Amino acid sequence: MKRVLIVGSGGHAKVAADIVLEMGHVVAGFLDDDPDRKGAKVLGFPVLGEISEWAQHEADAVALGVGANTARHRIMLDHPSIPWLTLIHPRATVSRFAQIGEGSMLAFGSCVGPDAVIGRGVIINTCASVDHDCRIHDFAHVAVGATLAGTVTVEEGALVGAGCSTRPGVTIGAWAAVGAGAAIVRDIPAGVTAVGVPARWPKGPYGYS
Ligand SMILES: CC(C)(COP(=O)(O)OP(=O)(O)OC[C@H]1O[C@@H](n2cnc3c(N)ncnc32)[C@H](O)[C@@H]1OP(=O)(O)O)[C@@H](O)C(=O)NCCC(=O)NCCS
Repeated sequence: MKRVLIVGSGGHAKVAADIVLEMGHVVAGFLDDDPDRKGAKVLGFPVLGEISEWAQHEADAVALGVGANTARHRIMLDHPSIPWLTLIHPRATVSRFAQIGEGSMLAFGSCVGPDAVIGRGVIINTCASVDHDCRIHDFAHVAVGATLAGTVTVEEGALVGAGCSTRPGVTIGAWAAVGAGAAIVRDIPAGVTAVGVPARWPKGPYGYS
């Protein structure tokens, strides 16, 4: 059993706290760089102070509870000495042949198939499914209820929105955002926002690709 500090104090931090408790650990409190959050209570646990103060608290581990991909990226780069705890809900289903990176979260009901590789600081959210041979790169987020077929690549920092589904083998480019409910049937370029069934994204002044 570990005493765990959670970075962040919003909705995603609540999900992280829930997983920490379900894993049999103890929540030591939350850390947030917003000074207005200090002293607040989240799920009955205190917001203790800034992230840089992590070593001053009585704790054995630190977990990421931040939903925004850019923010997780910045926090992990800004704090290279933090040994990030990987959060795996006991009711996530994870193949013994999958690899899960440091500081990533597999939430309640998520599924990760054989030979899937999950990078660092990734979120596989509630009931999301990542099938065999997928590659989910650092700081990406496969949102609530999204379904990735086998051999899908989600590049660094990309968001696959809630309830999306994909064709096998597609690539979602780095830091792209795919809107909730989209059907991803071909590769999505880096950096675009894509929505719809099938997913489309702005091509320029003359319409959508
Ligand atoms: C796609 C998305 C990123 C766009 O956000 P935004 O830039 O703030 O967009 P807006 O809400 O201003 O909407 C812009 C237009 O896109 C449409 N739109 C927004 N989201 C859409 C979606 N998921 N599917 C289809 N159309 C969408 C809006 O209806 C609006 O259309 P209009 O201009 O004809 O009125 C966002 O809506 C989304 O779906 N994010 C994913 C959220 C998610 O799943 N988070 C993870 C939770 S675990």
